[in-house]
Amino acid sequence: MKAAVLEHLKKNSGGYVSGEEIAKTLDISRTAVWKYITKLRTDGYRIEARARLGYRLCGVPDLLVPEEVRAGLATRFCGHHYHYYATVGSTNDRARELARGGAPEGTTVLAEVQTGGRGRFRRTWESPPGGLWFSVLFRPALPPARAPEITFVAAVAGAQALNAELGIRQPDDEGQYPIGIKWPNDFVWRGKKLGGILTELSGELDHINHLVVGVGLNINVDVAGFPAILRHKVTALREIAGRPVSRPELLRQFLAVLEHWYLLWQTDGFGPVLAAWKEYNACLNRPLRLATPEGELDGWAVDVDGGGALLLETGGGIRRIVTGEIVTKDGDLA
Ligand code: BTN
Repeated sequence: MKAAVLEHLKKNSGGYVSGEEIAKTLDISRTAVWKYITKLRTDGYRIEARARLGYRLCGVPDLLVPEEVRAGLATRFCGHHYHYYATVGSTNDRARELARGGAPEGTTVLAEVQTGGRGRFRRTWESPPGGLWFSVLFRPALPPARAPEITFVAAVAGAQALNAELGIRQPDDEGQYPIGIKWPNDFVWRGKKLGGILTELSGELDHINHLVVGVGLNINVDVAGFPAILRHKVTALREIAGRPVSRPELLRQFLAVLEHWYLLWQTDGFGPVLAAWKEYNACLNRPLRLATPEGELDGWAVDVDGGGALLLETGGGIRRIVTGEIVTKDGDLA
């Protein structure tokens, strides 16, 4: 009902709408209208009340509250179950708990701030206000060996949504997008990291119980507040776009594209996903240093194969790298 009251205020945006009219349309009492207005104010909506005129919406919060995300969400299931937190440890952990409790596919957990955000290789993930920190739950009927493919699904969705936010839907003359993907799943702009994906699996030997796809994107965050060791290696979409970005709009876009690619992956397999991933790739056909569980490797990035592994020509033949990350000569993230 709170959402319905808000919708009514938005429909009359800029103008006043009387409490009586809202009460009549929604078939509730005027006292109830007042209660919902109070709740909306607590959520951060600025609502003016004037005698004889009624209520006027004068400001929406820059928050990813359910009312702001759901309005205009064009998905079949992604984000329909939306769990919003001002602060949480890690959205991936919360999504896993919900999954164990039977939450359906597409359940999305989002936090304005994470106090225990996790990155790949057990790293801490900086999650201050202004970012998009969220996790989406999936239950694909596939063998666990194919689970890593979903990271590519999410990477393609993210690259598409982020470039579209810059108004870019085609690669440039050199076949490049401004925001690219660094194998396997980093979003990068001019060599700086804009975001990443952490996929976690729960399953048996022969089937997947659920997958949690955790996405972290520096959108309107203040990178200057990051630890000194990270500051020069990361960027935020606000810096790239030269303006603050609407986070609810971008989240809706991301969820819609994610669902599209997820469904395509289910029907057509990994082929189309990998082909799209290669269009956005920012690491193939160049020399690279890779940190792998077996140590560092220098070579030429030849391709990514049908299993998502990076093929690296090391001089002694082509090595197939399943787990690792691209680093600089100093061992830093490249
Ligand atoms: C990486 O190391 O590049 C992956 C970073 C993934 C961060 C996201 S933020 C939302 C979700 N919750 C977490 O704790 N981690 C992921």
